[in-house]
Amino acid sequence: MTTAKRIDGKAKAEQLAESITEQTAALLAEHGIKPGLAVVIIGEDPASQVYVRNKKRRAEACGFHSVQHTLAADTAQDDVLALIDDLNNDDAIHGILVQLPLPDHLDEQTITQAISPSKDVDGFHFVNIGKLTAGHTADAFVPCTPAGCILMIEDELGSDFSGLNAVVIGRSNIVGKPMSALLLQRNATVTMTHSRTKDLPGVVRNADIVIAAVGRPDMVKADWVKPGAVIIDVGINRVEKEIDGEMKSKLTGDVDYDDVLSVAGAVTPVPGGVGPMTITMLMFNTLRSARLSAGLEG
Ligand code: GUN
Repeated sequence: MTTAKRIDGKAKAEQLAESITEQTAALLAEHGIKPGLAVVIIGEDPASQVYVRNKKRRAEACGFHSVQHTLAADTAQDDVLALIDDLNNDDAIHGILVQLPLPDHLDEQTITQAISPSKDVDGFHFVNIGKLTAGHTADAFVPCTPAGCILMIEDELGSDFSGLNAVVIGRSNIVGKPMSALLLQRNATVTMTHSRTKDLPGVVRNADIVIAAVGRPDMVKADWVKPGAVIIDVGINRVEKEIDGEMKSKLTGDVDYDDVLSVAGAVTPVPGGVGPMTITMLMFNTLRSARLSAGLEG
């Protein structure tokens, strides 16, 4: 029985972060510019707090100017918009990220679209979505999770996916839709699937590349997988599992990792796959924004 390769997202992310740190030092030494990242968190969602802490830590490790704005859960929308306006006009800030999800009284679209497209390191602004969809990625910001996924797929398959079938499971704006645009740009034949798709296992069985981004623990099984397929698991699901006779809380992806190992060619683990790459791509986008603002790229 063959065993699939485990794609080590953590190691790749660390390698990339090292290169970003070196480029950051060079940008400061040669042009006097320090990339600045502002992260805004509103409310007390525990998972968001962990993500934001990790982003801040990573930004500091790369040598960035890193600021965090922590706002109370009941902050008025106008106050959030006023903060975004200040950050849009702050020359020391090159990237602005408002952590999602937002408290219910805030309108996600109004807030994400208030961020200047030139500082939108999440790639959520319609200008950046439009550029990505049109294949105009020279000066667009690509959302961090799909950007990290593509780098891991390219490591396995090269940068041209001509003749390969890619199946994206999940049609979210953050992952599924931008993922399909990036795969298409690299000449894959892309199928988008979602909760209304008929015979999902049958569709996935045709895929040379599978991106699972639905939030359903261990959904993709070995008998869904084409032999040799590259599988990228974007899911982060917290589940209760019995380990050594005790119920424990554990993170698991959308792919049944142990099950698919005997069929797939390469698979990302959870944790240690897509997650670390996502944070590093945020640093990549922020460095890129600083370079673009100085006319050094684009
Ligand atoms: N919450 C979960 N993922 C993300 C992300 O990529 N960006 C933002 N802003 N919030 C998130």
